[in-house]
Amino acid sequence: FDVSWDAASAEKGGWPSFMAKEVAEEPDAVANTIRGRVQDGAVVIPELDGSDELFRGIDRIIITACGTASYAGMVGKYALEQWARVPVDVELAHEFRYRDPVIGENTLVVSISQSGETMDTLMAVKYARERGARTLSICNTQGATIPRESDAVVYTHAGPEVAVASTKAFVAQITALLLLGLHAGRVRGTVSAADAAAAVADLEALPAKIAKVLADEQAHVTQLAGWMADTRSVLFLGRHVGYPIALEGALKLKEISYIHAEGFAAGELKHGPIALIEPGQPVFVLLPSPRHSALLHAKVVSNIQEIRARGARVIVIAEEGDAAVLPFADEVIRIPLAGALFEPILAVVPLQIFAMALATAKGLDVDQPRNLAKSVTVE
Ligand code: G6P
Repeated sequence: FDVSWDAASAEKGGWPSFMAKEVAEEPDAVANTIRGRVQDGAVVIPELDGSDELFRGIDRIIITACGTASYAGMVGKYALEQWARVPVDVELAHEFRYRDPVIGENTLVVSISQSGETMDTLMAVKYARERGARTLSICNTQGATIPRESDAVVYTHAGPEVAVASTKAFVAQITALLLLGLHAGRVRGTVSAADAAAAVADLEALPAKIAKVLADEQAHVTQLAGWMADTRSVLFLGRHVGYPIALEGALKLKEISYIHAEGFAAGELKHGPIALIEPGQPVFVLLPSPRHSALLHAKVVSNIQEIRARGARVIVIAEEGDAAVLPFADEVIRIPLAGALFEPILAVVPLQIFAMALATAKGLDVDQPRNLAKSVTVE
């Protein structure tokens, strides 16, 4: 009787990789990030108790981060602008610090970091503080340096993330930003109780919806990735909050599959990227729900027709029941219905699975990609 055992495989809990385990943990990551932060149908973040002044009297928010966290920040911009009614810019931390940004005491700088130790992000936070800005960090690691250097912190409760390519921390970061937008909107009096209650219902429904995407689409997406193991380039198109998800889908593929991948804003297609489309080119398209904006939906459907006419192999991520793309899509991946700002958390899941499955099909180590570190602690 021989049992092969090693600590690493035990920690993976039966999953083939940490990344697979961490994707499977996404419903919990989101649920745990929401837990304890809803009171009577409104978002109240206990850590921000007594910190109302962070949100009052500000005229600008700058979100700063690197890599995957910066794409979460791009989704967060929509949430903060919609609910807190403050203009928001998203800046890569390493770009932010090396110019002369217009910031001061009425600026809130929100940093996002899974590890809380990314040197570029840390230096941006320190710089913002020196300039008198208010600082708040969103972090997954208790007591890390970035939260210690910030005026306030909202922790994501995704649990430890081991795989270099971020997955569950990303969905938890978006969740935290949605919570932050609702919290700030309540403090500033810019979000109605009805809108807040609807958003809370949407938030609380997310874990089960992520679980549904995993249950319904994992095998389908894995099969797709297997067919595409020899692909040399994959493009991703998205619009509105789908745009950062297109960028994240491309980043995941670059990080762990070493395939050339690019994400574009779908509206930008005609301004250049469409020249890349040739027969057989795989393109993922994130289709926004027609329930939120018939206009945006129609525009993205027309992008799909344009690339299909040029021979692209089109894989569409669309909400359940949306039949508009069926005539033009080679593959349709379904996500459950959700509010517009909540869709990114569902839409990114198939893209994470795709990158993981494609890397696996190529025989690569999905947890430890070449040349990358989980946390980059040098500038
Ligand atoms: C590194 C990792 C990325 C991560 C980025 C930001 O580059 O390889 O996966 O998105 O750092 O990390 P952070 O810990 O600040 O979220």
